[in-house]
Amino acid sequence: MSEPVLPDALRIELGRYDQLQLIAFWDSLSSVEKHHLLEQLQQIDFVEMQRLATGADYAPNWAELAAKAAPPPAIRLHDSTAAISAAAARAAGEEALRSGRVAMILAAGGQGTRLGFDHPKGLFPIAPLSNRTLFEMHVDRLRAVGKRYGVKIPLFIMTSPATDHETREFFLRHHHLGLSQDELTIFCQGSMPAVDSVTGKILLASQSEIALSPDGHGGLLSALNKHGLLHQASHQGIDYFFYAQVDNPLVPVADPELMGYHILARSEMTTQVVQKRFALEKVGNVVSIDGKVQIIEYSDLPPAFAEQLNADGSLKLWAGNIAVHVFDVAFLRRVVQHAHGLPFHRAKKPVPHIDALGHLIQPSTANAIKFERFIFDLLPLANKAIVVEGDAREVFAPVKNANGAPTDTPAATQSALIALHGEWLKSAGCTIAPGIKVEIHPAWALDATEVQGRVEKPLHISSDTYFA
Ligand code: UD1
Repeated sequence: MSEPVLPDALRIELGRYDQLQLIAFWDSLSSVEKHHLLEQLQQIDFVEMQRLATGADYAPNWAELAAKAAPPPAIRLHDSTAAISAAAARAAGEEALRSGRVAMILAAGGQGTRLGFDHPKGLFPIAPLSNRTLFEMHVDRLRAVGKRYGVKIPLFIMTSPATDHETREFFLRHHHLGLSQDELTIFCQGSMPAVDSVTGKILLASQSEIALSPDGHGGLLSALNKHGLLHQASHQGIDYFFYAQVDNPLVPVADPELMGYHILARSEMTTQVVQKRFALEKVGNVVSIDGKVQIIEYSDLPPAFAEQLNADGSLKLWAGNIAVHVFDVAFLRRVVQHAHGLPFHRAKKPVPHIDALGHLIQPSTANAIKFERFIFDLLPLANKAIVVEGDAREVFAPVKNANGAPTDTPAATQSALIALHGEWLKSAGCTIAPGIKVEIHPAWALDATEVQGRVEKPLHISSDTYFA
């Protein structure tokens, strides 16, 4: 390999933006390391980094926005006065599924850090009896929905540089979980450098490596575009993307009713929400500001606004984001021209890095700023964006924290799965002895109605049972 030379123009640019620390160790690097660092440096937009580091690009006044935030217009659960009936929505969604116009996107760029799991979160075993992983639970359900409507529903999994390799390996090792090659596309999102929160300088993870982190799930848009997947989807006759996060095994995969509301309302982006359990629950707040639906992340909404009550004591800002969205592919194709227009949010985080002498620093407190785009910032750009309420017991039990934490733990998720599947069995006349665990594989039954069709004679379930 030839010895790489640092281009003069790059050296000048680094000087101009006060980022010369990035090449402080250049002379002592091996040829391979130089190539690697050079490649990373050439991908950085230093003008943008300066704008981001100084906060000159996007600094909303959250308190001011929160003061204007009203509950979003929403199709609420059991709302018999809604302009679109649940039956009509379901029929429209089923028609779209049957005609192969729906694909699924799964955001799986995160690692299970908060969970204490040192792998891509999708590899986390979560099913209460079968021990299936999060990836398996989503794919099993997707295949069952596809079977019900007689189609293959393409699955697009977005990884990040931190999860890509292991995710691909997992799918290879498990024969793509039964998906054929044309049904599964794994693609990797981009990265952003982390900067020192005081100096704004980009951090080095090692002498030849920039401290990078995933560019947020909003990186989806540019990643889809970069990998030619918007064209691919259109080519395959896909009109709608059902989008979800890997961390929620209750995701109502390609739910026909939700798809149908989206289609019949001619919405470009639809968001499913649940009633928040309590004011400061760590979910994004779906609100309406100046007539536009948008999401204020829990960390950005001042508590006084989150705690506002209606006269009947219920939460005013009730709608919690469960990160289940439906997109028109045409909408994404339109806004992708402005992918750079999605704002970057800042998060102060502890980021390991090397100091000026090359020593590794493992900070215990937040020393750096990471920049992330959020996919839900597309909402205000969408025409006729609508919000549809789901029942949290049926659609939302995310795995975020290790057991022992107050919420969103594997134990809580498993209890939610057992409770839901138990309800389905009880609706078919079964009885379940106290403390008994049940789990239903989607190929056996996808919902309560399918369970009723399966159970010929009501059972008394007195030992842990996996229906598969
Ligand atoms: C997220 C939402 C929050 C919502 C909650 C529901 C954001 C900023 N907040 O919170 O509004 O109520 O989920 O569970 O999204 N991911 C990527 N690439 C990235 C970053 C994240 O694929 O660059 C994926 C992760 O794999 C994960 C998901 O996005 O599955 C959520 O990310 P996380 O940072 O855990 O957000 P939460 O705080 O859980």
